[in-house]
Amino acid sequence: MADKLAIEKVSHVFAGDNRRAPLRVLDDVSFSARAGEFVSIIGASGSGKTTLLRVIAGLQAPTSGGVSIDGEAAAGPHRKLGVVFQRDSLWPWRTVSGNAAYGLEMRGVAKRDAAARAMKYIEMVGLGGFADYYPHQLSGGMRQRVNLARALTIEPDILLMDEPFAALDAQTREVMQLELTKIWRETGKTIVFVTHQIDEAVYLSDRVITLSARPGAVRAETAIDLPRPRDLRVKRTEAFQNYVGLLWDMIETEVMKGFRVPAGVD
Ligand SMILES: Nc1ncnc2c1ncn2[C@@H]1O[C@H](COP(=O)(O)OP(=O)(O)O)[C@@H](O)[C@H]1O
Ligand SMILES: [Mg+2]
Repeated sequence: MADKLAIEKVSHVFAGDNRRAPLRVLDDVSFSARAGEFVSIIGASGSGKTTLLRVIAGLQAPTSGGVSIDGEAAAGPHRKLGVVFQRDSLWPWRTVSGNAAYGLEMRGVAKRDAAARAMKYIEMVGLGGFADYYPHQLSGGMRQRVNLARALTIEPDILLMDEPFAALDAQTREVMQLELTKIWRETGKTIVFVTHQIDEAVYLSDRVITLSARPGAVRAETAIDLPRPRDLRVKRTEAFQNYVGLLWDMIETEVMKGFRVPAGVD
């Protein structure tokens, strides 16, 4: 069986102008994801993670290389893909229901039908009682739940997530990680998840792709062989910490290359 998603030799250079030299951001990136697999991409700030996700989402044409879905070359936004970005991108004048239904409406589904179909996912992300709330009436964690519901409502096979929990406090973030693994199990989606938080990647993933410093190239692929389902206590086990240590060492080396001074990731 073909991979669900394949990234094939993707390189990207942002063109320069009379003030700026061209910037090589991605260098020959290849990896794939099987149907139902949870793959994370980690890398230092500026290593090209967001650019890579935008290429996969069909929002940015790469300079070379390409993406295929179910064995077919994909160009431009694809109906099998849903995206959740780091910044919540909710419409302030739409309710939770209206926001969650938005993607379906864009696909030509009538408003009432779209709202009815969105309800299943609003409930799945734990916002059943908040369908008629507006974004300003929600916490940051709740707003990211709405973003997730919106991506799920179009029923994509593949969910792309770019640091979706980065702006959340530590406790909310952990709750969201736990709930995302539940939703992933329930829906069988293929997920590509970008983060710079190493423990988040280890906790969530079947496999972690580590990018080098810019230009981002695949430095390593690490299978995370921890039993599932994983509750949050797995983070305190030695096996878990060993994975975190291994990935930290790789990332740290790359961060140093980028800045040539000791620095954290991001
Ligand atoms: N539209 C753009 N035009 C020019 N440079 C860009 C653009 N988007 C991102 N970059 C640059 O590409 C590099 C990688 O950015 P990004 O993909 O956002 O990295 P990451 O998500 O890993 O932090 C950065 O140096 C950034 O400044
Ligand atoms: Mg980014």
